[in-house]
Amino acid sequence: MNPSTLTGLFLFLAATASAQVNYTCPNPAVYFTEYHGPFSAGRFNLSYQRPPAHCRTFNLSDVEDTVTRVKGQISDPDLSRLFENAFPNTLDTAIRWHGFAANNSEEELTFVITGDINAMWLRDSSNQLQSYLSLLKADTSSHSLASLYRGVINLQSRYINTSPHCNSYQPPAESGVEPAVNSFAATDVVTPNVTNTTVFECKYELDSLAAFLEVSYNYYNATEDLDFFNRYQWVDTVQTILNTVVNLTAGTYGPDGRVLDQPYTWNRTANSATESVSNLFRGNPVLGGTGLIRSYFRPSDDSCTYQLFIPANMMFSHFLGLCADIMQGLKSPSASGLASTMRSLESGIRAAIDAHALLHVSGNTTIYAYEVDGYGSFNIMDDANIPSLLSAPFFGYDVDDPTYQATRQLLLSSSNSYYMRGPVLNAIGGPHVSFGYAWPMASIVRILTSSDDDEIRGELRQLVSSTDGLGMIHESVNSWNVSDWTRPWFSWANGLFGQMILDLEDRKPYLLSESYQ
Ligand SMILES: *[C@@H]1O[C@H](CO)[C@@H](O)[C@H](O)[C@H]1NC(C)=O
Ligand SMILES: *[C@@H]1O[C@H](CO)[C@@H](O)[C@H](O)[C@H]1NC(C)=O
Ligand SMILES: *[C@@H]1O[C@H](CO)[C@@H](O)[C@H](O)[C@H]1NC(C)=O
Ligand SMILES: *[C@@H]1O[C@H](CO)[C@@H](O)[C@H](O)[C@H]1NC(C)=O
Ligand SMILES: *[C@@H]1O[C@H](CO)[C@@H](O)[C@H](O)[C@H]1NC(C)=O
Ligand SMILES: *[C@@H]1O[C@H](CO)[C@@H](O)[C@H](O)[C@H]1NC(C)=O
Ligand SMILES: *[C@@H]1O[C@H](CO)[C@@H](O)[C@H](O)[C@H]1NC(C)=O
Ligand SMILES: *[C@@H]1O[C@H](CO)[C@@H](O)[C@H](O)[C@H]1NC(C)=O
Ligand SMILES: *[C@@H]1O[C@H](CO)[C@@H](O)[C@H](O)[C@H]1NC(C)=O
Ligand SMILES: *[C@@H]1O[C@H](CO)[C@@H](O)[C@H](O)[C@H]1NC(C)=O
Ligand SMILES: *[C@@H]1O[C@H](CO)[C@@H](O)[C@H](O)[C@H]1NC(C)=O
Repeated sequence: MNPSTLTGLFLFLAATASAQVNYTCPNPAVYFTEYHGPFSAGRFNLSYQRPPAHCRTFNLSDVEDTVTRVKGQISDPDLSRLFENAFPNTLDTAIRWHGFAANNSEEELTFVITGDINAMWLRDSSNQLQSYLSLLKADTSSHSLASLYRGVINLQSRYINTSPHCNSYQPPAESGVEPAVNSFAATDVVTPNVTNTTVFECKYELDSLAAFLEVSYNYYNATEDLDFFNRYQWVDTVQTILNTVVNLTAGTYGPDGRVLDQPYTWNRTANSATESVSNLFRGNPVLGGTGLIRSYFRPSDDSCTYQLFIPANMMFSHFLGLCADIMQGLKSPSASGLASTMRSLESGIRAAIDAHALLHVSGNTTIYAYEVDGYGSFNIMDDANIPSLLSAPFFGYDVDDPTYQATRQLLLSSSNSYYMRGPVLNAIGGPHVSFGYAWPMASIVRILTSSDDDEIRGELRQLVSSTDGLGMIHESVNSWNVSDWTRPWFSWANGLFGQMILDLEDRKPYLLSESYQ
């Protein structure tokens, strides 16, 4: 490997990591922008991008076995190479630290970085582990996937109990990993206040709290390890989440017209509308009492136009209801009361979505709005990041429901203002990277929500041909220029690609033996 790849970030990582770091390991942020053999035998000549074995951040034989098995099922050499690079990416590069809490030698903690940013997002870390969900089983050993899950749940608990309105966080003190400097956030003024030794960025996004519920339920569903949820701070964390979101069902004005104090405000000096919050850091006016929960930001980390953000309400209500099953079984004296609060909040949000987010468009067609304000204003669009409207079936919405199908059809057409079209990649994008950039993540979600073989083939062909020969899933790709893409090292999107291939292996294995050249 080329010593010139040892750049700033790598030196930073090496200087702060534990003794096992090998100073000759490449910095993935650079490595993933370079071409490495052996190259695939396909038309797209895709690079091999797995770091050398001794540089990988966590090893699991189940994951290696899955890579080997699935490669054996995939006939297309480029699709096979993309899977081989993408699926193990979180284990290969993003398990920055795995250990135990200082005050409890049994409490596992896992610090998962997003990839090129040395901080842990609640949303990304839940999704990064989710790519391995089909391999998760009960296991008490600390060198297991189950342990990585427990560690993420425990560390997210700590974060949420300390600063529940934030999206991304710093390494735990136990890790010895230095906090990362966030120059964008350095002068942010947030209420309630946060500290930069714990928090990397404090954008309040409802889906971040939903991500904690999702990773919790995923762990429970696969392991049935109820006792884990009795042991640490899980019940307190759910209580914190409920307290936080209930405050965010209030609107801008009280019944007498008085402007209410807001439970959260966010002031950043920025030159972009999506990086600032209007009306003195409180956002556009919102009607209170709709039953929907407000979000100040979207899962892209861009600010909401209207704070009643529907995809996060879908996601939050779904996993809240599922986590009520966990809560119901716990020993804590408050558990049964909390379980019923969770269930009633779930059904209240679902009903509120139907009452406030359904739009009647041409003819008899009804679709879901992306965001509403409760007064009647709404936003028709979708954004690539999950939760999106396209991904509603991940949150208990029936994929065959006519409203979902009508929404999907609109979103995957030029009627969606953020649907990007061109010869390289046709997919939903978003304001985060701006016009013209389609996101592979949205193409992957399209596959996961489709039963149409031709639609899936079309998406696979575009995904395989749009990596710029690098064989990694990028954040976004210019629909008109394959060499113009963003983020070389975006672990979540790579994991999601792997998860989608495993889903196809299960649902439509014959598609894995076709050619996408
Ligand atoms: C460090 O990496 C180099 C180059 O890949 C390798 O030859 C060496 O054995 C590694 N050393 C350790 C201690 O793992
Ligand atoms: C594949 O790409 C590498 C790196 O760009 C290049 O050296 C090699 O010639 C290419 N092979 C083919 C068959 O195009
Ligand atoms: C992963 O396995 C390789 C050898 O297969 C080893 O060199 C490396 O240290 C292991 N990494 C971790 C984090 O255990
Ligand atoms: C460890 O610290 C956390 C957070 O301060 C606290 O909630 C927990 O009860 C402590 N655990 C023990 C065993 O003291
Ligand atoms: C945290 O803020 C303090 C005070 O502004 C600053 O000196 C320090 O560098 C910051 N630390 C990080 C990790 O950003
Ligand atoms: C917003 O934050 C900036 C610092 O980033 C500060 O100068 C300004 O006074 C704040 N505005 C208000 C109204 O608090
Ligand atoms: C908020 O500020 C107060 C007063 O400076 C401090 O005691 C408290 O720990 C801070 N809270 C957080 C979450 O940093
Ligand atoms: C896990 O999920 C499956 C599929 O939804 C469900 O049938 C099963 O009851 C769940 N198991 C537990 C323990 O939650
Ligand atoms: C909810 O709002 C009340 C009243 O403003 C406040 O005292 C409480 O701290 C808030 N709770 C959370 C978790 O933000
Ligand atoms: C709308 O639905 C009504 C009742 O189901 C039906 O009579 C009518 O033809 C439909 N209109 C259109 C434009 O599909
Ligand atoms: C395509 O993108 C690359 C990388 O940004 C750039 O160097 C190149 O000029 C672009 N090509 C065209 C035709 O715009």
